[in-house]
Amino acid sequence: MAAPSRALRSALARQLVRSAPAVQRRGLSLAARAAVVAPKVPNYTQQRGLKTIDFAGTPEVVYERSDWPREKLLDYFKNDTLALIGYGSQGHGQGLNLRDNGLNVIVGVRKNGASWNEAIQDGWVPGKNLFEVDEAISKGTIVMNLLSDAAQSETWPAIKPQLKGKTLYFSHGFSPVFKDLTKVEVPSDIDVILVAPKGSGRTVRSLFKAGKGINSSIAVWQDVTGKAKEKAIALGVAVGSGYLYETTFEKEVYSDLMGERGSLMGGIHGMFLAQYEVLRERGHSPSEAFNETVEEATQSLYPLIGANGMDWMYAACSTTARRGALDWTNKFKDAIKPVMNDLYTSVADGTETKRSLDYNSAPDYRQKYEAELEEIRNLEIWRAGKAVRSLRPENQEK
Ligand SMILES: NC(=O)c1ccc[n+]([C@@H]2O[C@H](COP(=O)([O-])OP(=O)(O)OC[C@H]3O[C@@H](n4cnc5c(N)ncnc54)[C@H](OP(=O)(O)O)[C@@H]3O)[C@@H](O)[C@H]2O)c1
Repeated sequence: MAAPSRALRSALARQLVRSAPAVQRRGLSLAARAAVVAPKVPNYTQQRGLKTIDFAGTPEVVYERSDWPREKLLDYFKNDTLALIGYGSQGHGQGLNLRDNGLNVIVGVRKNGASWNEAIQDGWVPGKNLFEVDEAISKGTIVMNLLSDAAQSETWPAIKPQLKGKTLYFSHGFSPVFKDLTKVEVPSDIDVILVAPKGSGRTVRSLFKAGKGINSSIAVWQDVTGKAKEKAIALGVAVGSGYLYETTFEKEVYSDLMGERGSLMGGIHGMFLAQYEVLRERGHSPSEAFNETVEEATQSLYPLIGANGMDWMYAACSTTARRGALDWTNKFKDAIKPVMNDLYTSVADGTETKRSLDYNSAPDYRQKYEAELEEIRNLEIWRAGKAVRSLRPENQEK
């Protein structure tokens, strides 16, 4: 792509400056503003809503919802009953999106549990489109297993015999991939497919309501009818995905377990804690340590990475900030990469799955988990964060 014109560069810089929160505007130097470049659009070829996109030199096929307008979805699933089992975060998001798309969807959960009550609050009606798990499965042609991963393993002996002639759908490769541990050995005569939204079920819902769609992975574990992939794509669009990236069950589960333990959640929390503790031990106040560790990251810099990439964020910061960040990147990478490799090994050899199944199958797992969250909530860093957030204009009393 040709370099953007000076006028375009300064328009982009003005837009960036205007949309930046105060804390970020302070960090913008003139040189940085001038260095802001236009986001690059990837090269792609398109055919009926299916794109081959060049991801940094590797062509990958991406499916998109424009190939599956609502009328086509309604026609495709006109003889199907989608039995969505489990109503946690994904059940809620995918279920409501399917319902709003006009598809014939029913929910199956334990009677009078937390999910049952939540489903009623969301307008599902007992006996009409809300049933206990076994009854919902018996009515379904496509069984969408959205129980917790531990519960999928626990309930499998009861569910497996009911799947004859149906399609089995997962939103995580966990159960079939780690079948030696989960004991989820799927029947050999049914289609088994995956649509894994790359985000919380709450986001699946909020993006759908905003007229957008979440990115999801799709995969086929077993194709008996010759239609498994097509069904996965259609269901992916029906539950609210915008773009669908093709993968395998194994790759989906390995990358997902890695990401949430690594940079998405565990790793980033560990890094926040390490920096905050050093700042506090070296005499900085809680507010200063929090602002420099978390607030500026989440409110100012990370959204810039999300919008247009790392170089865009660098360009938006001072020359001093840029020089230091460039110098320290490799030190952090070298320190962290061995931990990432240990993590991948622990994912691939099933250690993480075993730990998750053992922990999440315990009858008191909710209480134990709540106690751990309470510990996090009470850490000084997150108590300081609560005070910092209360000062944001949107949290001030008018
Ligand atoms: N959450 C995410 O961000 C996300 C993103 C992508 C994919 N996924 C995948 O989507 C699937 C569902 O995850 P989720 O986070 O939506 O749900 P979740 O919170 O892990 O699971 C909750 C559901 O499982 C039910 N459940 C738990 N134990 C049960 C048991 N012994 N018998 C029957 N039901 C039981 C709960 O019912 P009660 O209320 O009755 O206990 C609830 O409906 C998983 O495979 C997950 O890996 C999740």
